[in-house]
Amino acid sequence: MKNISAPGGALERLKKIIPAGVVPKFNSAAELMAWQQEEGRKRAVEVDQLNLKARAEKILGRSGIQDLHRSCTFANYLVSGEGQRKAFTMAKSYAQNFGTGFSSFVFSGSPGTGKNHLAAAIGNHILKQGKTVLVVTIPDLMLRVRSCYDDGGSEASLINDLCSVDLLILDEVGVQRESRGEMVILNQLVDRRLASMKPVGVLTNLNNIELERVLGVRIMDRLTMDGGVWVNFDWGSYRKNVNFLRVVK
Ligand SMILES: Nc1ncnc2c1ncn2[C@@H]1O[C@H](COP(=O)(O)OP(=O)(O)OP(=O)(O)O)[C@@H](O)[C@H]1O
Ligand SMILES: [Mg+2]
Repeated sequence: MKNISAPGGALERLKKIIPAGVVPKFNSAAELMAWQQEEGRKRAVEVDQLNLKARAEKILGRSGIQDLHRSCTFANYLVSGEGQRKAFTMAKSYAQNFGTGFSSFVFSGSPGTGKNHLAAAIGNHILKQGKTVLVVTIPDLMLRVRSCYDDGGSEASLINDLCSVDLLILDEVGVQRESRGEMVILNQLVDRRLASMKPVGVLTNLNNIELERVLGVRIMDRLTMDGGVWVNFDWGSYRKNVNFLRVVK
């Protein structure tokens, strides 16, 4: 191969025709090579992130955050009252510190208080950093588990997949009474994630005592240890604020 930076080489010839004032990006073949390698490395990181995202989306056959909450951010969360301010601040700092530890969070409170909104805001924030997020309701999860059995498979690969995402948010924990088998799977899933230092978010209408009855003391302890966040959403439903337009014929 010809040495492009040798006297009379391509680089020297190129320098002669470069207009005055234009600074060449590279002064030697080594610099050009280093630049190419750096660009290649950056592209490889991008491809890895895209692959991770695609894999996370394949688990449930949809994107990690459902359409309804895809546009929920910290910017469009309206704060009124001390409780909401605290919830907002805790959720935002959880998102900003994501990746530095492996703490989990529980958002507990009555319907329409914005648990999904702030959870999706966390998810959307960390998705932008190339992390993977999955929000799944327990009824939906149990449906998937049953369809694994129906397809003659086991739930083990589903649990493996759910353990591979950076943040798994379990929604509607406690809305239905799970069977003994379903409880075992739920416990296994949370236990496995926490043991491998992967955080879990829990959204629930249950209070502390009721949630402990569903998840057991051990998992409750682990969810709230190591800087785990518990936020009570104890204000009225936001849904009441929405004005419905009545079309009168
Ligand atoms: N403080 C807020 N600012 C802006 N929008 C909000 C706020 N709180 C809730 N909302 C909106 O109200 C709707 C209901 O909120 P969300 O789905 O987060 O409630 P939830 O606490 O998860 O309720 P549920 O327990 O019934 O699941 C959503 O569209 C959400 O974006
Ligand atoms: Mg909800």
